[in-house]
Amino acid sequence: RRDFTIAIDGPAASGKSSTARAVAQELGFGYIDSGSIYRCATLLALRKGAEAGAGGHEDIAGLVKSASIDIRTRPGLQRPAPGVTGTGRIAVPDVQVLLDGEDVTREIRTPEVNRLVAAIAGDSSVREAVLHIQRSLAGAAETMPAAATSGGVVMDGRDIGTTVFPDAELKIYLDASAMARAIRRWDEMSSQVSEAKAGVPSPRGAGSGCGQDQDQSESGSESAVDRTPAGYPSVEDIARELEQRDYADINRKHSPLRIAPDAIVIDNTSMTFERQVYTIVDLARERM
Ligand code: C5P
Repeated sequence: RRDFTIAIDGPAASGKSSTARAVAQELGFGYIDSGSIYRCATLLALRKGAEAGAGGHEDIAGLVKSASIDIRTRPGLQRPAPGVTGTGRIAVPDVQVLLDGEDVTREIRTPEVNRLVAAIAGDSSVREAVLHIQRSLAGAAETMPAAATSGGVVMDGRDIGTTVFPDAELKIYLDASAMARAIRRWDEMSSQVSEAKAGVPSPRGAGSGCGQDQDQSESGSESAVDRTPAGYPSVEDIARELEQRDYADINRKHSPLRIAPDAIVIDNTSMTFERQVYTIVDLARERM
């Protein structure tokens, strides 16, 4: 049973995932990253396609229906909030994605999946299969450790407030300028690269390796282009990729990315992570 649902929608790299996770932990709610289900669908398609060879046409919705997809959260430790100049500390849970029991947390974030996911998510039968998983994961979310004290759930995605949970008690549409989003994603990627090079496990991934959307710090962003490691995409490349994905998500026929009429829009371009999280937590508490 769900007592309270928070839907967080918005374009790619707007900070939905880390915000939703921190809000869930703060409120003792469960958390479901719905993008990761579409990413699992994409991974299934890529693996099957590779098996079938070029031109192999697969029933992706069928693959999704027969797969078992699970999203597990582990409460995170309190640590200084990214992008916060004050003394704010905030906890962001770690998330692990399991596809038929295999940990695919990292594999669903490769550039190949990024490129293909919006096209796969445009297929109405895939969306129908994913919708079923979203609702059943949300129904079971109260059994997760983070939700031990309540039956609430936070889900982030593109159509949560409009299609998946149109009756959600709180709907947030999270946005930021295209450049701020590209810089954040670049910062996140390059810190993962340097951590991997130094052999230091990512403090954000903390074992699960899922640090998506987490770092909203824009510090040092002016020099981002100069710091691009060889062989890695530039901020401009990332901006282009995000733009293409947003375009596909906004313009698809089935449940496109839209601001739900009753959603509260938060533009976090120049907002600290902490302020953004507590704005949503306060809105939720007012309505509980
Ligand atoms: O949130 P994330 O960037 O991981 O989502 C990956 C892709 O999955 C999105 O670009 C979109 O195409 C699709 N998606 C969707 N509906 C959702 C969540 C994600 O179509 N609710």
